Amino acid sequence: MPASPSDHEPANLIRLVGVEKSLGTQKVLRGVDLNIREGEKMVIIGRSGGGKSVLLKHILGLMRPDAGQVWFRDKDLAQLDEEQMVPLRKETGMLFQNGALFDSLTVGENVAFPLRERGNVDEKEIQSEVARALKIVDLPNQELKWPSQLSGGMRKRVALARAAIAKPALMLYDEPTSGLDPVVADSINKLMVRLGDELNMTSVIVTHDMVSAREVGDRIAMLYEGKIYCVDKPGVILESQDPVVKRFVNGISDASDAIF
Ligand SMILES: Nc1ncnc2c1ncn2[C@@H]1O[C@H](COP(=O)(O)OP(=O)(O)O)[C@@H](O)[C@H]1O
Ligand SMILES: [Mg+2]
Repeated sequence: MPASPSDHEPANLIRLVGVEKSLGTQKVLRGVDLNIREGEKMVIIGRSGGGKSVLLKHILGLMRPDAGQVWFRDKDLAQLDEEQMVPLRKETGMLFQNGALFDSLTVGENVAFPLRERGNVDEKEIQSEVARALKIVDLPNQELKWPSQLSGGMRKRVALARAAIAKPALMLYDEPTSGLDPVVADSINKLMVRLGDELNMTSVIVTHDMVSAREVGDRIAMLYEGKIYCVDKPGVILESQDPVVKRFVNGISDASDAIF
C-alpha cells in the first residue's frame, strides 16, 4: 500500500485558519493561521498586548472568532454550542497567567478540584491521583499545606498539578514563568517538558521568556501584528536574521521601538 503523508507526519490536534478577532476598537487577531501537531510543544511569542492570551482563549473556546475557524481535531469550535464544548474542555488543561489557587482550600483540595468538578466521587482514586500529580511536580506529600504557606514557585507547581491532573490531551500555558526568578523558572520549564512527555500531551506555551521558549519548544511561532509571522524550530527562530524576529528575540523592549 502506498504510504500516505499521515503515515509519517503527526496529525494536527489544533488548526487555526484565518482567525480574526476585534476587541473594543482594536483588531487584535488579523488572520491567524497555525497548526499544532499532536504531541508537540508549541511556543507562541510576541510582544505584550499583541494578542497571545486572546489566541489561547480561542483555542480554549472561551472566545469565538469574528472570522475564521478553530479546529480541535475534526471539530470547528466556532460551530459548537456550550454543551457541545463540554467534552472538548475536559480534554484541555489551562495554566492561566495569574493562575491563582483557591486560598481557602488545601493544596490537595486545589489539585483535586478538576476531578471533583467533573463528578468523580471515588475518594480513594481522587487521593491517589492527587498524590501522583503532586509527585510529578516535585511536591510529594504536600496535600495538607495551605497555599499561603508556599513560595511563588511552589504555588505555580501546584497550579500545574491541578491543570494536569485529569491528563488532558492539550495543555495551555499562559506566561508560566513570568514573575519567577531564573532558578524557579528553570524548574517550571523542565516540568512543562516532563508533563508533556510523561502524559503524552500536546502543549501550547505563550511566553516572552526566550530561555523558556528555547528550552521547552519543539517549535516557536511568532505572533506579530495579529498574524503568525513565522513558525519554526527554536534554533531557526532564535538565530533568525529577519529584522522583526531578531529585534524581538534580542529583547529590545517595546519602549525602545520609538528610537527605530
Ligand atoms: N476582553 C477584552 N476586552 C477588550 N479588550 C481586550 C480583552 N482581552 C484583551 N483585550 C485587548 O486585546 C489586546 C491583546 O491582549 P492580550 O491577548 O491579553 O495580549 P498578550 O497576551 O499578547 O499580552 C490588548 O490590547 C488587550 O487590551
Ligand atoms: Mg497575555
